[in-house]
Amino acid sequence: MPDSKPPNKAIKVVIVGAGSVGVTTAYALLLDGLASDIVLIDIDRNRALGEVMDLSHAAHLHKARVRVGDYEDCENAAAVIITAGVNQKPGQTRLDLVKTNYALFRDVVPRVAHHAPDTIIVVATNPVDVLTHAAYKLSGFPRERVIGSGTAMDTTRFRHELGKHFGVNPRNVHAVIVGEHGDSQLPVWSLATISGMRLRDYCTAANIEYDDKVLEACATRTREAAYEIIRRKGKTNYGVASVLVSVLQPIVTDSDAIMTVSRVGSYAGVDDVALSMPCKLNRHGAYQDVPLLLNDEEKEALRKSAQSIKDVITSLED
Ligand code: LAC
Repeated sequence: MPDSKPPNKAIKVVIVGAGSVGVTTAYALLLDGLASDIVLIDIDRNRALGEVMDLSHAAHLHKARVRVGDYEDCENAAAVIITAGVNQKPGQTRLDLVKTNYALFRDVVPRVAHHAPDTIIVVATNPVDVLTHAAYKLSGFPRERVIGSGTAMDTTRFRHELGKHFGVNPRNVHAVIVGEHGDSQLPVWSLATISGMRLRDYCTAANIEYDDKVLEACATRTREAAYEIIRRKGKTNYGVASVLVSVLQPIVTDSDAIMTVSRVGSYAGVDDVALSMPCKLNRHGAYQDVPLLLNDEEKEALRKSAQSIKDVITSLED
């Protein structure tokens, strides 16, 4: 995570959707100090006003203002984060939400693009890969300026799981989840390292058993985490809000961080799709691929993941 603070000038961030992800993101942004002007847009203006009143009582302690706005307020925003939409109910997959949320994006994205033609759109609404692709098409923006939070969330969860298993801080685990932010995601085992060593070598050096089953369970818990949280508390908000702030950090501080975020491109032979691979992020957005030398099995899993997202995109266009 880059540790530089934003330049000393007004940074406006707009959040579309004042549901629990939107407002938790506003609060996380406030605590982080990344933005000086945080604008919440919601069709339920009264609810947004209530949230803003509550947040405002904390805002002056953190040198930022929080306000309710409209699409005109997207003008000159460093980023517009879209969190609006229905979210998963227990037992639903992220892809089950697609029709409703796509219809909403057809309304929201052109309005954002009209008022903020130079901004960076960050999509959090699920299914995030399909909607990142939709936001790209609906905005007409170049692909580096339409970023889905994607598997930045799963990568964080995966490092948490592996860190717990190996007894090291998750920051010292270098491992990524790529592909769909959903059921077809894949852990890149072949490149996972701790202390510069592949996991097998680390286990040998540290005299720990390398147990495929235990590691596979870490990947399963990562993939299933949102289902489990939703079963228990009905939604996820803190994890994704923190991930959204970490996506904004390199944009606002122009600091070339590498993150697994979703972006439109051609992946494993599947064209015009969005999914997560490591990218470099700075004030231009997710502007550069970072090469990832997958093995054959991982390449095939990535192709399947890309194809499953593409199938949903194609069904929407029918
Ligand atoms: C999650 C939601 C953001 O994984 O999809 O928490």
